[in-house]
Amino acid sequence: MKHLLKLQDLTREEILSILNLADQLKYERNHGIPNDSLRGKKLGMIFQKASTRTRVSFETGIYELGGYGLFLSSHDLQIGRGEPVEDTARVLSRYLDGIMIRTFAQKEVEDLAKYGTIPVINGLTDYAHPCQVLADLMTVREYKGSFKNLKLTYVGDGNNMANSLIAGCIKLEMNVAIACPHGYEPDKAIVAWGKDTGRLTVTDDVEAAISGADVLYTDVWASMGMEAEREMRNRVFKGYQINPGNIKAAKNDVMVMHCLPAHRGEEITADVFEEHSAEIFDEAENRLHAQKAVMVKLMK
Ligand code: CP
Ligand code: NVA
Repeated sequence: MKHLLKLQDLTREEILSILNLADQLKYERNHGIPNDSLRGKKLGMIFQKASTRTRVSFETGIYELGGYGLFLSSHDLQIGRGEPVEDTARVLSRYLDGIMIRTFAQKEVEDLAKYGTIPVINGLTDYAHPCQVLADLMTVREYKGSFKNLKLTYVGDGNNMANSLIAGCIKLEMNVAIACPHGYEPDKAIVAWGKDTGRLTVTDDVEAAISGADVLYTDVWASMGMEAEREMRNRVFKGYQINPGNIKAAKNDVMVMHCLPAHRGEEITADVFEEHSAEIFDEAENRLHAQKAVMVKLMK
């Protein structure tokens, strides 16, 4: 494994090995055992979109491992004024030991990896959010003990989160149900792959999708970059919500997850969110541990 561009690129063994290291790093941190596996290493963090969790968890993560993180806003970089990705990649490769990038097009992340000579980590594109799903899988295992044949139901937009959840969960032998309005399905190729495995269903029937779920997941109806569509999307997605009515169709011990930020009253009601805040904020914490594991795997 040279980069983390999307979960489709990783084998089941590679994913499990990241999760195992993440568990170890969490244990060490909780017990005050220092781990400076990345002493002296430098991570550049390019952000073309806003972030709370990704920025802070990568920055504190590299620091805790003995390295140094550089926050690089696209407003300040020449990339924001049109310098080609292939040049940026070659220049940054001369200074840094790794790059994390959050941007719009998946191709930009792939090109950074193609033209540079250092590991590239996808910190979210319109297509994928692999770091989030590694933390999600870590959290599922903490609560459920294993993965095999658990049912994860995702309610909402077939966006970057849905794409990465399908890839990550199915590779670990979970079953995935996506409930989304017609026309808002996840990426066609990922859906075709998921359906081939026999582990994916995609439907517009929210209750049917939630039925028997072990894990319920949702995300915002309008992702970053879709601000202009917000009002229209609020109408289209009405009903694609996790609420006290439909959650009853899930298993009694269902866990509820959200990558955050959450819009209470839209994709999830405030009461369900608060009732499941333990899982949701453990999930947010696990971004730190999972990404530290990714950095150690790629940059050590
Ligand atoms: N979940 C997530 O990636 O959060 P941020 O946008 O705050 O980084
Ligand atoms: N789908 C959301 C996820 C945010 C972490 C977005 O892309 O804005």
